[in-house]
Amino acid sequence: MNANSPSAAGPAAAPPRVLLLHGPNLNLLGERDRDTYGSTTLKDVEERTAALGRELGAEVRCAQSNSEGALIDLIHATRGSDDGIVFNPGAYAHYSYALRDALEAVTGLGIPCVEVHISNVHAREAFRHTSVTAPVCQGMVSGHGIFGYDLALRSVLHRIAEWREARAAR
Ligand code: DQA
Repeated sequence: MNANSPSAAGPAAAPPRVLLLHGPNLNLLGERDRDTYGSTTLKDVEERTAALGRELGAEVRCAQSNSEGALIDLIHATRGSDDGIVFNPGAYAHYSYALRDALEAVTGLGIPCVEVHISNVHAREAFRHTSVTAPVCQGMVSGHGIFGYDLALRSVLHRIAEWREARAAR
């Protein structure tokens, strides 16, 4: 079912809105450690994810910050403005309890989040094997390169449609 199909939440359902959020150092995609992250820039990732969103009937808006506090503010600001989040937290995934709590707060309010890592974090240094943010997300995609964003967007839209449907049935 299309995430925006009438049967998902009634004929007047607004297109789902998704925040594509990137954390520290991901503004350097395409320049930074190309063997690990490839040559695609952040702008390319944002454009192709927004294009897939349009194909799927969704609106994707994009943000990036290198600062933990700014990321927390962006996550809080999804309340009342977005239906879901696709988030690559960068290295913050491995140790930021503050980001974890921010995500837990908004997912608890019905805004699902899918975590993305371009690289396979489990095939890398031990400190990358832990994600403190993934347990409060719907799921995590890792090691699929930038194709992982397509998987994450499809997954979060599917969850948004399921939750809309469940709310409409109440
Ligand atoms: C990353 C993996 C993290 O361990 C790393 O700190 C990043 C990028 C990824 O997309 O593979 O900045 O999130």
